[in-house]
Amino acid sequence: MTKLDVLNPATNEVIKILEYTDEQTAHRQIERAHEAFQSWKQVDAHERSAKLFEWARLVDEHKNELAKLITQEGGKPYKEAQGEVDYANSYIKWYAEEAKRIYGRTIPANSSSKKIIVQKFPVGVVGAITPWNFPAAMITRKMAPALAAGCTIVCKPATQTPLTTIRLVELAHEAGIPEDAIQYVILSGKDAGEIFNESPIIQKVTFTGSTQVGKKLIEQASQSVKNVTMELGGLAPLIVHEDANVDLAVDQTIATKFRNAGQTCICANRIYVHESIEQEYIEKLTEKVHALKVGNGMDEDVVVGPLINQEGVNKVIDQIKDAEDKGGQLSRSLSDIQELGGNFLKPVVISNANQEMKAMHEETFGPIAPVMTYSDLEDAIQMANDTEFGLAAYFFTNDYHTGFHLYESLDYGVIGWNDGGPSAAHAPFGGMKQSGYGREGGIEGIEPYLETKYLSIGDM
Ligand code: SIN
Repeated sequence: MTKLDVLNPATNEVIKILEYTDEQTAHRQIERAHEAFQSWKQVDAHERSAKLFEWARLVDEHKNELAKLITQEGGKPYKEAQGEVDYANSYIKWYAEEAKRIYGRTIPANSSSKKIIVQKFPVGVVGAITPWNFPAAMITRKMAPALAAGCTIVCKPATQTPLTTIRLVELAHEAGIPEDAIQYVILSGKDAGEIFNESPIIQKVTFTGSTQVGKKLIEQASQSVKNVTMELGGLAPLIVHEDANVDLAVDQTIATKFRNAGQTCICANRIYVHESIEQEYIEKLTEKVHALKVGNGMDEDVVVGPLINQEGVNKVIDQIKDAEDKGGQLSRSLSDIQELGGNFLKPVVISNANQEMKAMHEETFGPIAPVMTYSDLEDAIQMANDTEFGLAAYFFTNDYHTGFHLYESLDYGVIGWNDGGPSAAHAPFGGMKQSGYGREGGIEGIEPYLETKYLSIGDM
């Protein structure tokens, strides 16, 4: 296997053929990243920051070109893809600032003849493995803090969506970031995991993707005790309580559930609605969901694009059939859902859902919204927490006691209260339990790329 066909999921046409990076070349690239690290770590923080800002300027300048690549290789509707470029760039801009804020401290010593100084140093060469659902944002969320910290980085983009990464890396070089400090390799996930984890040069592996693959990478990384950051799967619950603003809840449910056709780790996967507002919520949700235009992301007004591939489609169909078998009521028939063919699925609301359904306990990655009712909030909390995942959760209530009770009770790293879009470059994104460890974004997001060293000086 030496060639990679990059497909457009809307048409299944090949849009580009790329050469795979062979193993030897990948190792040479890692060595070059190591050499580049010796000088990049010496570049002062203000200059690193200036280069990141220049990269961000170029990304802004090339926003439409990058968005088109995202739509072509990932299927994301063009307007949403433009939003992703802005989101991706907000990480570059945020970490251009944070480069200048890598502070140390002094510690009072237990003797007047001693001083203790603490400083942060870059960890070294980073190997990054990124997913197809955010071909720009999941790259910059890792590359920008790594470079800001003084690390160099080799990134393995998803084989479905390498073109956006290639262009982002070219723009970084154009901005004056040394070529060997920021590189990409075209490899399968398995090969990249092995090469990065077996390399004695790579000091850190950062990954966004499934929990299954994350476990494998953690196992490999344990052999050389590598520092890892893992942003893994989710199964986000969304609770709509009896006192919620139903219209707001419906709009924000759509914002989280149908973002990227339901293919994000933080999409609401399962919805719990208080029985007293169930009917109103389902009627309003169904009306708006059926109005979402599905099609090729380059076509005007399309808000739900294709799924990434047939495997993704089959998984979602399986969940829909399973839900129907277990008593779920579909807001549109299976043939209507599949009417457009190819990788397209029309969004559907599934009422009368129950915990036995796959859609309520397996990550979906597709445009289906299963809704179950509850009468006691404590039952909803218990069901929401009854999973090995802990990435994102949402709830809707206008009562601040209920709101803070839910915030404190839900075992999730990212929580949206009356908010279906909590992600932001300035906030620490990441999961609890088997959704991974480490945080990306915010002041926390640069820490994984830094080592803490202290100096104890005697005989002062
Ligand atoms: C993801 O799906 O992994 C990322 C979503 C986000 O950053 O909002």
